[in-house]
Amino acid sequence: MKIGIPKEGLGETRVAASPDVVKKFVGLGFSVTVEKNAGVYSSFSNDDYKKAGASISKDNAGALKNADVVLKINCPTTSGVQSELSLLKKGTMLIAGIGALSKKKDLLALAKAGVTTFDMELMPRITRAQSMDIISSQSNLAGYKAVLDAASEYGSVFPMMMTAAGTIAPARAFIMGVGVAGLQAIATAKRLGAIVSATDVRPATKEQIESLGAKFLEIDAEMEKDAQTESGHAKQMPPEYFKKQKQIVSEHIKKQDIVITTALIPGRPAPVLVTEDMVKSMKSGSVVVDLAVGAGGNCPISEQGKIVEKYGVKIIGFDNFPGRLPRDSSNLFATNLFNFITPHINNETNKLDINWEDETITGTCITHKGKVIHPMLLASKP
Ligand code: NAI
Repeated sequence: MKIGIPKEGLGETRVAASPDVVKKFVGLGFSVTVEKNAGVYSSFSNDDYKKAGASISKDNAGALKNADVVLKINCPTTSGVQSELSLLKKGTMLIAGIGALSKKKDLLALAKAGVTTFDMELMPRITRAQSMDIISSQSNLAGYKAVLDAASEYGSVFPMMMTAAGTIAPARAFIMGVGVAGLQAIATAKRLGAIVSATDVRPATKEQIESLGAKFLEIDAEMEKDAQTESGHAKQMPPEYFKKQKQIVSEHIKKQDIVITTALIPGRPAPVLVTEDMVKSMKSGSVVVDLAVGAGGNCPISEQGKIVEKYGVKIIGFDNFPGRLPRDSSNLFATNLFNFITPHINNETNKLDINWEDETITGTCITHKGKVIHPMLLASKP
């Protein structure tokens, strides 16, 4: 069976397979073609892939045209004469971070082309699937990088420093939204020496925040009791909650130097947590990092791909935080895909033999045999 790994489009620094993972696929009997320079931003050379046993194609057609399985970071381009989708043969298995919940047009095009698509962003949150979860592996790195980005834009230091010339007070960092990214942001800000506080709607986070040595900012324990879905995500909170959150956060944020926001609600725009008035009230020189900028943002001032400066506060809205650590992000992403695929390899034939009953398959397969099949997306059925 043939696996194809194309170079990602403009603005994407990651690649869906590392040389280590290619070597493992080759060892399992797959033939792997990697597009020339696909790994260049992740510091994987064409030679590294060759040594791992891959062939190098001169263009994306060489990696996509005859592939039985295509591994990608992002959704392939689906329109235009030379779209990536136009190069895939019917029946190709595409495994990528599609973002299907917000890509209706692409979803229909993938179904129409007869591609069997797995959206790894929809991986069920079960223990067995943790090693396949691209959201976790990428969010963890995003949380880390967000703090480093804040530190490099902040005109002061994070830890308390007692010097002969005087004492520098430690920075105060406030993390809003304590999922995978938020937890890593707390840990990273603590390691750098900041005084850290954090808040979330899910009550389970209180203990997690405190176990990392940060202070939990409680909004309303009663309303938060019910704030978590079965899949571990946050629910959309009622307007009264946001009102109370606004009051409490407004007071707290005035004293903060660094604010990292990570709050997301799957399939909905990100909630606004840091209003323009709150930014106005912050100390000059403070930094806000909006990790949710791609989903509309937790701060209305943030702009995707930019650092905006307003009221003396810098608001960072880079759109691909994991892509700012391309080598580690690619390595972990590639391992997630490998862990997803390997339980479905038939040891005798060395071919893919998908177990269509498996929860990781039913949870991620979005198009198959010309149709959109995922229950969450059936409204988009062609
Ligand atoms: P996420 O990326 O969906 O959201 C980030 C955080 O924002 C969440 O903690 C959420 O509760 C919070 N949030 C949403 N609305 C908010 C609001 N109005 N105010 C304050 N905070 C708000 O979350 P992520 O990173 O996907 O993690 C959610 C949970 O799922 C975590 O407990 C995580 O450990 C768990 N998880 C489990 C996995 C597994 O078992 N395979 C894999 C990945 C995550």
